[in-house]
Amino acid sequence: MCLLDLLRQPAWAILSLLLAMVVRLQRRPRWDPQACRVKLNGKTAIVTGANSGIGMYIAMDFARRGARVILACRNESLGMAALKEITKTTGNTDIHLRLVDLSCMDSVSNFATRILEEEKALHILVNNAGVSGLPRQITKDGFEVSFATNHLGPFLLTNLLLDLMKRSAPARIVTLSSVNHKKGQVDFSHFRGENLVYGMDKVYNHTKLHNIICTNELARRLQGTGVTANSVHPGIVKTGVLRHYPFWIRYCFNLLAFFFFKTAEEGACSTIYCAVAEELEGVTGKYFDSDCSLVLPAPLARDAALAVKDFEICERLTSKL
Ligand SMILES: NC(=O)c1ccc[n+]([C@@H]2O[C@H](COP(=O)([O-])OP(=O)(O)OC[C@H]3O[C@@H](n4cnc5c(N)ncnc54)[C@H](OP(=O)(O)O)[C@@H]3O)[C@@H](O)[C@H]2O)c1
Ligand SMILES: *[C@@H]1O[C@H](CO)[C@@H](O)[C@H](O)[C@H]1NC(C)=O
Ligand SMILES: *[C@@H]1O[C@H](CO)[C@@H](O)[C@H](O)[C@H]1NC(C)=O
Repeated sequence: MCLLDLLRQPAWAILSLLLAMVVRLQRRPRWDPQACRVKLNGKTAIVTGANSGIGMYIAMDFARRGARVILACRNESLGMAALKEITKTTGNTDIHLRLVDLSCMDSVSNFATRILEEEKALHILVNNAGVSGLPRQITKDGFEVSFATNHLGPFLLTNLLLDLMKRSAPARIVTLSSVNHKKGQVDFSHFRGENLVYGMDKVYNHTKLHNIICTNELARRLQGTGVTANSVHPGIVKTGVLRHYPFWIRYCFNLLAFFFFKTAEEGACSTIYCAVAEELEGVTGKYFDSDCSLVLPAPLARDAALAVKDFEICERLTSKL
């Protein structure tokens, strides 16, 4: 009996489906943070949104490697809880909480000012914080709130910390985008909340496209400085990222997540890879998939002329404040 005949038997079909699920569950990235012996003693790292989900595991990994880690969070009690957990798990006591609300440009610039006053060096910046599914709202700076949180806030933060990172070179910037950027569109009026259609993750998808576009242009501008900038897709990860979605969507997500999605710890892998792996020394302006492989982002994210324009517009929007 040939294989196809076998598969026609319902029992075998079910068995192979189960097998496929197991194989899917077992699929491991091509790089293992646990097996990577890189140490970060004497290095300083900032992780935004480090109190939950993927961000906490990224910060945990840096702490385990001996780094001085700054948790950039907006909520003091959630941030302190993460700090305690990271210190308890890793034994690293050089972990610090600094408050920042990335949706508010004043808060971002106050945060950066304090970092510049207190830190002698900055070797790793991870732009992890992000939101999805927020209803329409315009911030006091005049920005649409998802764009402010996911793109303009991190954009300003990165720019304010650049000189410190250049002085600390070699240094690495890693920005968490998403495979969802492929469905995103570029329309510069979106930043102010114009011409936006809300529905599921539509706005989120646009913001994640801008993440890659501006990271690529930043990488181009940083050529020769020893500071690299890359974007990653963390995978489809079971976190609180859908907290603003209706119950039934979260229910389906969690059901699927149980079988197929990554844990937050697994979701941290591609970011840790970009931040510490020796083989990525000097690699910049690239986009990495959740299994740590180098892949091409969507065509819009590779348009160099568009990137120059996007970066300039974001600079203008954030510097006037
Ligand atoms: N989960 C996925 O499947 C997935 C897929 C692709 C990409 N990503 C990306 O991965 C990153 C991390 O997401 P996650 O899944 O770990 O989500 P999460 O569990 O919701 O964590 C998001 C973090 O961002 C923080 N944050 C949100 N708004 C903020 C603001 N205005 N200022 C400062 N911090 C803010 C949150 O703080 P609070 O706890 O105070 O809310 C939280 O610590 C995001 O950039 C997301 O777009 C996730
Ligand atoms: C911080 O998070 C806690 C727990 O979710 C919540 O009760 C509290 O209101 C939050 N604080 C602020 C300032 O948002
Ligand atoms: C956002 O992107 C995801 C992943 O590519 C896609 O499945 C979804 O349909 C997109 N959302 C919208 C509203 O375009």
